[in-house]
Amino acid sequence: MMRPEAEEFNCVKDIFEACTDVLEVGCGEHAYLAEFLATICANVTAIDSSEEAISRARACLDHVPNVRLMRVDATDWTDVLPGGSFDAVVLYRALHFLADVPAFLSEARRLLKRPGGRLIVMNSPLFDLTSDRVGVHVFRDFCSDVFSAQLESYWTPNVAQNFATYCDPTRPRLVNLLSEESPGPILKTFRHTTEVPLIDIRSEVLRATVASQFLEAAGEESFDREILRLQERILILHGFDITDLLFENLVLTKTVTFHVEIHTLN
Ligand SMILES: C[S@@+](CC[C@H](N)C(=O)[O-])C[C@H]1O[C@@H](n2cnc3c(N)ncnc32)[C@H](O)[C@@H]1O
Repeated sequence: MMRPEAEEFNCVKDIFEACTDVLEVGCGEHAYLAEFLATICANVTAIDSSEEAISRARACLDHVPNVRLMRVDATDWTDVLPGGSFDAVVLYRALHFLADVPAFLSEARRLLKRPGGRLIVMNSPLFDLTSDRVGVHVFRDFCSDVFSAQLESYWTPNVAQNFATYCDPTRPRLVNLLSEESPGPILKTFRHTTEVPLIDIRSEVLRATVASQFLEAAGEESFDREILRLQERILILHGFDITDLLFENLVLTKTVTFHVEIHTLN
């Protein structure tokens, strides 16, 4: 998973400063958020259903004493952790990957201290390069068939549906995931602008998995043709000639939208 921008975690610092016991669900192999939370909260428990992710996370965080890492499936855990023991349960880029979100939510209700326990959902849409004039075309137009196929296999129907139902802040009714009767959650949205050094657009494109898939399927010659086509398209659409940028050490700007939903237990 991509390393988070510093801003993504800094913007939730104040929320976690009020928490002593925190559970992160779906921490992944780097456990980026758990590592950050350990600098703020006394006790951090981080779980993931993947044995491999947990063992890698253990290696990353072996110097952090207040993080407990456990392999647990968050949709199928009977009383592994005592009820009412967490000030916050947090998911970072993870809620939509859970196979059974309602099952997870009922366990989250049990695990949170009441009243006041919080479920915190942090997400940034995948491939959010919308305001990056060059980046958006690299990802939207270049080898779009291969890219769509890749997206389809990554975003399984279940994951895509979960994202729309539980994680997309534009969904029509922003309900409190912890209780239908409670008022809606607090939603914070941030736009974070960051600078992306661009040294050589060809190698930038090559780094994307989609490019290696394309190379494997179509070969080097077709790849070079696609790069030329990409250059022409950017010139036509934006009057922006990237030819001169090749092999130069230039900087592009990208903007990332990032949102945090805070659901509080009555
Ligand atoms: C997209 S990764 C996000 C990892 C990390 N939070 C990050 O952003 O770097 C989603 C993680 O959720 C985990 N996951 C999926 N289903 C799970 C479940 N039922 N219980 C616990 N973890 C789960 C996956 O193993 C994966 O590590």
